[in-house]
Amino acid sequence: MKILVVGGGGREHAIIKKLKENKEVEVIYALPGNGGMAKDAILVPIGAKEIDKIVAFAVENNIDYAVVAPDDPLVLGAVDALEEKGIPCFGPRKDAAIIEGSKIFSKNLMKKYGIPTAAYEVFENAKDAIDYLETASLPIVIKADGLALGKGVIIANTKEEAVGAVRSMMEEGVFGASGSRVVVEEFLTGPEVSVLSFTDGKTVVPMVSSMDHKRAKDNDEGLNMGGMGTIAPNPYYTDEIAKECMETIFLPTIRAMKAEGREFRGCLYFGLMLTPKGPKVIEYNCRFGDPETQVVLPLLESDLLTIMQATTKGELTEEIVKFKSDAACCVVMASEGYPVSYKSGFEITMAQEVEDTVYVAGARLEEGKVLTAGGRVLGVVAVAKTLEEAIAAAYGNVQRVHFENAYYRKDIGKRALEATKC
Ligand code: AMP
Ligand code: GLY
Repeated sequence: MKILVVGGGGREHAIIKKLKENKEVEVIYALPGNGGMAKDAILVPIGAKEIDKIVAFAVENNIDYAVVAPDDPLVLGAVDALEEKGIPCFGPRKDAAIIEGSKIFSKNLMKKYGIPTAAYEVFENAKDAIDYLETASLPIVIKADGLALGKGVIIANTKEEAVGAVRSMMEEGVFGASGSRVVVEEFLTGPEVSVLSFTDGKTVVPMVSSMDHKRAKDNDEGLNMGGMGTIAPNPYYTDEIAKECMETIFLPTIRAMKAEGREFRGCLYFGLMLTPKGPKVIEYNCRFGDPETQVVLPLLESDLLTIMQATTKGELTEEIVKFKSDAACCVVMASEGYPVSYKSGFEITMAQEVEDTVYVAGARLEEGKVLTAGGRVLGVVAVAKTLEEAIAAAYGNVQRVHFENAYYRKDIGKRALEATKC
């Protein structure tokens, strides 16, 4: 089989490595991929948002199956465009990808179908939003409606910060059209859990739970980098909570999308907060999380391609999705200074024995060398019997990967580990 994977980060590298375990797979093309995954896929210099070119490439190369991984092409309708040419795809169509593409859509969906989430108001202009902030309690959360490279959420601790966020989104247009409408939302507290799920629109099968570490610095300080490391499973997510989430969140969401005529097929990501009043949805993503995928897929015992194809065909069952009972940890190595400013172009080297568990996000090939080319450079993963062992092994592997200016958090999984000891 000839497979095409749209996207070019660590998540896509993890998907590609897992797909390669299937003996039927002859070749995987990554569009555009990155230089760090050249051993695992053929890199094709077509951007993830160049839908027409992606479709033309797929047709010319007789692609049997396509996986569209990032949010942008999904929201732009890449799956619809490929399906129109008869190419089966993993990923939601445009009308379902809106669950991530518009926060206003997803908040209204949750309200209409009684799915637990933070209380919110929607604003179409800055004046109304600012008037509302006069009396709102703090902290308060301001969210751009559309996609904003993971930066569209501001948690404001003061009224000035909140007003500043509204002005920058709605008046200065820092996120372009994505910020022309905003959601102002109640601030929730509690441990966060990421639950990725496979769904064919009728059946939903959650994957092993995980925990992201979004802030740049240890102890969850610094800027939101959208993922400096992950662990799985998430110890806060007990079997009892999983059952509750299935009943109050996962199934109601799948049914709500179907009822709206927007059947969701693909990976639906539930970003949850375990609040004192029960689990609530913080966000939906219409795709695999990054770097959650880098810890979830190594724990998947079943064949990924088989599950993806069943999802596409509407034949998903729980029986075909089995996870190991092990734990995994991913430590992201970034370029020092990211996300503000950083240097790249440094050679990446690593011990051969860790190559299999390194997922590269930002690298390019030059004269046979792999050079850093991005803020988040790569994720180093380890799987072990316990979370404690997985964390130790991941940090051990980090010592075997080298590039100048490397920066990584030293406390990935620390809080989760403490929770297991309580
Ligand atoms: P992202 O949507 O990935 O940019 O990140 C948003 C992050 O902001 C989440 O992971 C939460 O940590 C935080 N967040 C979003 N909404 C809320 C909320 N209503 N209350 C508290 N924290 C929130
Ligand atoms: N790790 C968060 C995300 O993929 O959005």
